[in-house]
Amino acid sequence: MTRRPYVAGNWKMNLDRASAVALARAVREHVGAQAPYDCALFAPAVYVAAVAEVLAGSPVKVGVQNVHDMASGAYTGEISVAMAKDVGAASALVGHSERRALFGEADAFLAKKAKAVLDGGLELVFCVGETLAEREAGRTEAVVETQLRLGLGALPRTDWTRVAIAYEPVWAIGTGRNATPAQAGEVHTFLRALVGKMVDAATAEALRIQYGGSVSAANAAELLAVPGIDGALVGGASLKIESLRAILDAARR
Ligand code: PGA
Repeated sequence: MTRRPYVAGNWKMNLDRASAVALARAVREHVGAQAPYDCALFAPAVYVAAVAEVLAGSPVKVGVQNVHDMASGAYTGEISVAMAKDVGAASALVGHSERRALFGEADAFLAKKAKAVLDGGLELVFCVGETLAEREAGRTEAVVETQLRLGLGALPRTDWTRVAIAYEPVWAIGTGRNATPAQAGEVHTFLRALVGKMVDAATAEALRIQYGGSVSAANAAELLAVPGIDGALVGGASLKIESLRAILDAARR
């Protein structure tokens, strides 16, 4: 099976309204009416509506970087899946290492969020990845297995068609030190086999697994050339149209 490459930009807490709209417009122009890959832009929540407006009618989708698992109520500062959808989001990120580490989001909470995202009709990009200490201790596979099992272990099989996984080694995020294609490829192979055990072989075969962590114009082609690497979740390099264009072009394979 050939999986359709999936490149997503994670803008994190960057840009202002005008630059978010301009960047989305430039991405829309570059991708055109149809492309041999999927593309999504995870914008700051307050700019999702403006970005969605720019992307209307384009295959490029807009997503949110965070949602709460509850539908409504006394959760000051949070946004629900329905709210994200209401302003045009098609997808949500869950499990990003910055949410796990800086905001104390634990596996059980992430599982609830993932379920809420899918139950609410959005697509999901679920992030997993080990720290440098965990890699050096030889625990990479154990760590990502725990994250995946606790995060997505309870999903019904039919939900998996709207799931992508992002393998993002924490030591590679924002550091300029990407995992080598071989390092990333090994973990992608492990994750795909794991999904085969958790769900079934067909689901594992169809699942898109993105690599994230210092993906750049310079390294995207060699990372995306690895058969099990189905796309990229791009932080820093998604903030500049020149580098994002080069990464999108590397997904034309
Ligand atoms: P980076 O971020 O590309 O800047 O390393 C990736 C991410 O956090 O999704």
